[in-house]
Amino acid sequence: MAKAEKVVQPTMAEQADRHLLYQASVQNPDFELDFIDDTFKKIRGRKPKSMREDFAGTAISSCQWVKRRRGNTAIAVDIDPEVLDWSRKNNIAKLTVAQQQRLELIEDDVLRVSTEKVDVLQAYNFSYWFFQERATMLAYFKRTREALNEDGLLFLDVFGGSECYQTQKEKRKVDGFKYIWEQAEFNAITNELKCHIHFHFPDKSKLKEAFSYTWRVWGARELREILAEAGFSESIVYRQEFDAETDEALDEYVATDEAEDYACWLGYIIAKP
Ligand SMILES: C[S@@+](CC[C@H](N)C(=O)[O-])C[C@H]1O[C@@H](n2cnc3c(N)ncnc32)[C@H](O)[C@@H]1O
Repeated sequence: MAKAEKVVQPTMAEQADRHLLYQASVQNPDFELDFIDDTFKKIRGRKPKSMREDFAGTAISSCQWVKRRRGNTAIAVDIDPEVLDWSRKNNIAKLTVAQQQRLELIEDDVLRVSTEKVDVLQAYNFSYWFFQERATMLAYFKRTREALNEDGLLFLDVFGGSECYQTQKEKRKVDGFKYIWEQAEFNAITNELKCHIHFHFPDKSKLKEAFSYTWRVWGARELREILAEAGFSESIVYRQEFDAETDEALDEYVATDEAEDYACWLGYIIAKP
């Protein structure tokens, strides 16, 4: 009698889509766009309409932006055709035709791309820290300044604190999986930080190094100096607030030049052309 063939079920890791996991664990476009809307209104006295999303990845922020208001337009720039293709099939396909018409996806290098001027240019999740050399950062900031309307604003995120300079692993439970942030190597001379994102699943399967980055850890002060050199007239740091009693990081950001020796703080740098 023939032996029954054992059916091997694919693991959860094998079935997972790394871009969906990234969106669910790393990104919070609604919060980020609320911050952009509120800060722009406070500084410019009006709501922004046009946005460019650099290092856009799946362009989820641009998709949310065109869904927000009928007058909103978005340009999403990424160098990687694979992630842009994923975006078309999974995010952009879910938009209405009218929303799709207000979103342009561009496959290009943010150091080279030339786009029409926008109100908001956002580069989030520290992707501009891919740039290792000061000259490259300066060139990038010059390009972003050229891409902004006169009363536009550049939005960058930034982090700091002693933990940036350490190897470490941080685990967080997300719906149906665990997100692991690993700072795998740090070079104390060049400030190069090698990081990975891993995902672990309830069936014990793992998606190791789903994403890997080598960033230079830049300081807020030096970034502001480079922004000034690139021609930005002013830059403002919005630092995450901490609960006075528990020291817990809050989802509130204040414009300030003061920060204690926090182990880890997150913030935004907003720059005016
Ligand atoms: C960490 S993802 C950022 C995704 C998203 N912006 C976010 O906030 O999470 C970094 C993206 O930057 C893109 N990238 C890296 N270097 C680039 C460059 N020079 N020009 C355009 N895109 C670049 C990569 O292809 C990748 O999709």
